[in-house]
This record gives sequence, structure tokens and C-alpha cells, in this order.
Amino acid sequence: MSADRPRITESRPERLGSARAIAHANIALIKYWGNKEGNLPYSDTISFNLSNCTTKTSVSWNRALPHDSVFIDGVELSDKKLERASRHLDRVRRQFGFREKALVVSENSFPMGVGIASSASGFAALSLAAVAAAGQELSQKELSALARHGSGSASRSIPDGFVLWHTGEDSESSYAESIYPPDYWALKDTVLILEEGEKAVGSSEGHKLAHTSPHFEKRIKENVPRRLEQIHKALETKDIGLLGVTIEEEARELHLITQTTDEPVNYLTDSTLKVINILVRKWRREGIPVYFTLDAGPNVHAIYPSEFTEQMLAVRERDLPGVTFIDNSPSKGAEIIK
Ligand code: PMV
Repeated sequence: MSADRPRITESRPERLGSARAIAHANIALIKYWGNKEGNLPYSDTISFNLSNCTTKTSVSWNRALPHDSVFIDGVELSDKKLERASRHLDRVRRQFGFREKALVVSENSFPMGVGIASSASGFAALSLAAVAAAGQELSQKELSALARHGSGSASRSIPDGFVLWHTGEDSESSYAESIYPPDYWALKDTVLILEEGEKAVGSSEGHKLAHTSPHFEKRIKENVPRRLEQIHKALETKDIGLLGVTIEEEARELHLITQTTDEPVNYLTDSTLKVINILVRKWRREGIPVYFTLDAGPNVHAIYPSEFTEQMLAVRERDLPGVTFIDNSPSKGAEIIK
């Protein structure tokens, strides 16, 4: 069976209808960068879900519809974006053996174009709502593997809290599961929104290029296995220092890779570097155990224990007036909502 083809079940759903689901974006502590067919990663990755970055999606399967229609924050998708969503709906249609088209209406809690990747929360919510609207149920593992096909990081937005995505060897064995519940460790992730708008080179293209970096092999063979161990230990012992140095190394290496592929991409801006400088040289030296991580974009995620929330509020107002922030705690995974 090809990695892109979930199993087709025998029974055709009797009652196709509607369902609505919520899912949260997640921040990777160990990054997924570089993939094989079917969004299979090169290593395990670890993340936690972000309480205030959500997507709510409703799916209605309807035989009267001539084609899929997808609306995100009131805007109807067309061309490549519609095709990507439709391909995901095809996976659900194939798996449960029906042909009806869907009306999909999706809303993000974070404003469009703030540069937060909505693909993780988006494909996680779409997967759950599409399956539920088909009157079907999948195990959390199956749902995570399904969401992975839409966007790799979406696999991690299905389970609760702190999440491990297993590399796996094939479509079924590459899925994410919860390793700690959301309230296990009161961490905060404040996203500092420095740049708005879509990135010039999307992550799908970045994943395909990653292996051409001369740093990629060492990353996968040596660095990630070591850092995975460190993150597991940091989580187990709630060691913010160990967590912090490890996520910063990871973030720097992610950007080293993007900048050294055959077709290099730089996602960082002067503002990113300025904020990292403030975080490391001012806030940390003033005694706040705050550490940065980055996705494939310019916005900085500041991670710190929640008991430092007041201090963080004070220093960010002092040093970064006018910057937009989104404060998050670790949160639940994807759920059905009314
Ligand atoms: O799921 P994608 O294809 O959008 O890739 C996500 C890539 C990063 O956000 C940079 C890292 C990660 O593990 O989330």
C-alpha cells in the first residue's frame, strides 16, 4: 500500500452529515524538517499544543454539492490551496468509500496573515471533523496518521498536551501520541509577532530541500538523537535550563539547514535577530529563565515557566512596545465541538 493511501474500509457510511472540531497549533521542541513520501519524517519530534492558537472547522458532506468548497476566515479557497484541502478530503472519501463533496468552513483564533502556521491546527481539525461528519470514528493513532498526510505537524495537534511524533516506517506507524497531559508542566509560550504575511517559500518545499544541506546528515544521525534524549530528560525532571538550551540549539539548526540547501531560504529578519538578542542578553541576564524557539518563519516563541509571567509582561512592555503577542499554555488536542 502506498504511504499516501489509507486503508479502504468495507462499509459505506449510512449517514453522511456535519460535524465541527477544534484543534490547536503546536510548537515543536524538536523540529520536523525534511520528509519522505507521505510526510514521513526522518526522526521523532516533540511539541506541545498552544492554548490560544486554534482552528475551528465544520465539515458537511452533501450529495448535492458539485465540488468541495472551503472557506477560511470568510475567504473561499481556490487553486492550489483548495486542491490541497480537497486532496485531504479525498483521503477520507477513499478510506470510508464514498464520493460526496464537502462544504468546509474554518476559523482561526489568530488573525489571518500574522505568520503563525495554521496548517497544524487546520489539518488536525479538518481530519477530525471530516471523519466525524462521515459518521465514523478512528482511533487517536489513526487520526494522527491521517492528519499527518495533510501537514506533518498536524499529526501532533491531535493528542493532548506534550506530544511525541514517532518517526515510523510507513503510513500507519508514523503517528503522534501524548507523553504528558497539558497541566503536567506550567510552561508559557509567548509568540512575538514580528512579521505578518505568508512566507515566500512554504514548508512543503522546504521539507523537500532539507536533505541537500551539508548539515542535514549530522543533524539526523547525531544531533537530533542527542537532543531527543535531552528533551525527554528535561520534561521528565521539569528542567527549564536543559529544555531551554536544547530548543535554542534546535531552532538555530533548523535555520542553518534552510540557509544551506541547494536553493537556500532565509526566514529570519532583522527584527527576529533583534528580539533574540533582547531575550538572551537582557531578559535572561535579568534572571528570567526564558528561551527562544522559531518555526520556519521570522516570529519568535519565548518559552518560560508560568511563574515568570508577571516579569515577562513587564520586560516586554519596556523593551518591545507595539509588538503583538499571543500568550499560550500547553493545551488539549483536537476535539469535537457543537
Ligand atoms: O507541518 P509542516 O509541513 O507545516 O512543517 C512544520 C515545520 C516546522 O514548523 C518548522 C517544524 C515543526 O516541527 O513544526
